Amino acid sequence: MEDHTDVANPSAITDAVKIVEGKLNGAGLNLLINNAGIYTPTASLETVDSEEMIRTYKTNAVGPMLMAQAFLPLLKKAARESTEKGLSCSKAAIINMSSIGGSIASLFGFDLMQVVSYRCSKLVPT
Ligand SMILES: NC(=O)c1ccc[n+]([C@@H]2O[C@H](COP(=O)([O-])OP(=O)(O)OC[C@H]3O[C@@H](n4cnc5c(N)ncnc54)[C@H](OP(=O)(O)O)[C@@H]3O)[C@@H](O)[C@H]2O)c1
Repeated sequence: MEDHTDVANPSAITDAVKIVEGKLNGAGLNLLINNAGIYTPTASLETVDSEEMIRTYKTNAVGPMLMAQAFLPLLKKAARESTEKGLSCSKAAIINMSSIGGSIASLFGFDLMQVVSYRCSKLVPT
């Protein structure tokens, strides 16, 4: 296995689930953190193209969804077997790394960096 799983590659994710499952020895998974992200600083509205949009979406938006989907059975297993009450990262949780750069409310730093592909891929409603 490489030193990390390519989150844009569904078969690599399937392999990662098998490896994690093997290490868990029958237990569930408490926490999935989707941290992987790519950022192309030169992607302005004038220069960005469809390939760059798709490449960035595959890692930043589709990747976390595929990871969540693939690890869901292990996360559900941990939740079922936990004695914790309510929501908790020590029960079962998914954390997705967002960015203020994807805010539709603040337009943080837009005058300095448009980074259209990144901002769209990290869209957050606040
Ligand atoms: N830095 C900031 O100011 C900031 C602010 C807000 C949010 N964030 C978010 O925080 C997260 C981490 O950012 P960072 O600044 O630490 O970025 P970073 O230093 O560039 O690290 C990104 C990591 O993602 C990995 N990665 C990229 N494409 C991947 C793929 N397809 N599959 C698996 N791993 C992949 C990279 O691995 P390789 O190096 O091996 O390619 C690298 O380890 C990102 O989601 C980013 O959007 C960062």
